[in-house]
Amino acid sequence: MDRKLRPAPVTDTAELIGNNANMINRRKFLRYGLNSATGVIAVTLGVLGFASVIMPPSGSSSGDLSVKYWAKGREDEAWYGADHLQPMKKSDFVEQAKSSSVGMSGAQGVWNGLPVNVTYVPHSKNSGKPLANNIPRFQLTEGKDATGKIIGHFEDLSDADPSLFPSEDLVMVFSRCTHLCCIPGWQLVANDYTEDSWTPGGGDVKGSKMFCICHSSRFNPTVLEMNTNRNRSNGQTFNYAGIARSGGPAPVGLPIIPIAVNADVIEGLTTYVDWLTYCD
Ligand code: FES
Repeated sequence: MDRKLRPAPVTDTAELIGNNANMINRRKFLRYGLNSATGVIAVTLGVLGFASVIMPPSGSSSGDLSVKYWAKGREDEAWYGADHLQPMKKSDFVEQAKSSSVGMSGAQGVWNGLPVNVTYVPHSKNSGKPLANNIPRFQLTEGKDATGKIIGHFEDLSDADPSLFPSEDLVMVFSRCTHLCCIPGWQLVANDYTEDSWTPGGGDVKGSKMFCICHSSRFNPTVLEMNTNRNRSNGQTFNYAGIARSGGPAPVGLPIIPIAVNADVIEGLTTYVDWLTYCD
């Protein structure tokens, strides 16, 4: 892969979040939650039973921004299965990562009726170490459109809004595949791409990818880039901060949804809901 990757800096979380934690556009939040819930019902399914996703019991109408675990049908298999529809907690991810040989963990979730995926990457612990296999951290890169043309660098966006850089070593993305809108998961199926390993450089070799079972697209939650997609309703293209597509038919990566952690609970920020429109 001929991308110029740069290691990401270690950044103070409180500084990153700033006042953005309070930025809520309730009208958009409600609109996109409902629209996307409908889209989920219509789409071919991913690994978890998202056909039955409806607004969470304490969804946007109550202003609840917490992300909930989603393990429907896999309550006995996923590590978070017993917590289906309970709020995600950072401490759960940190604890789960202890059983990973590379220190990562991830879970499927639902936020405002949207399928999302959260991955814990031990970036703050590893970013000062030599770049080597199985020492994962975030890497920042330029992104390309579907034709291969470079459109910009992740830092072009994160310099303007630091909340885009994953806070608390957690990256949350909208979990709708940019190929045909299935729902990729993180280590919910077993194959080379989802094994417990990590390689630097943003390539497609093995390890710790989000994998879409529909047509085998792969996304690397540790590689952050600028990306571009098209609003399905109005046809307009938009650039966004995302995780990189590493392989398969998906043309581009998945949008990041900035988060905050409040009293250990992971909450999504509604700053960039316009990025979640490509499957509507
Ligand atoms: S919908 Fe994900 S690879 Fe086709």
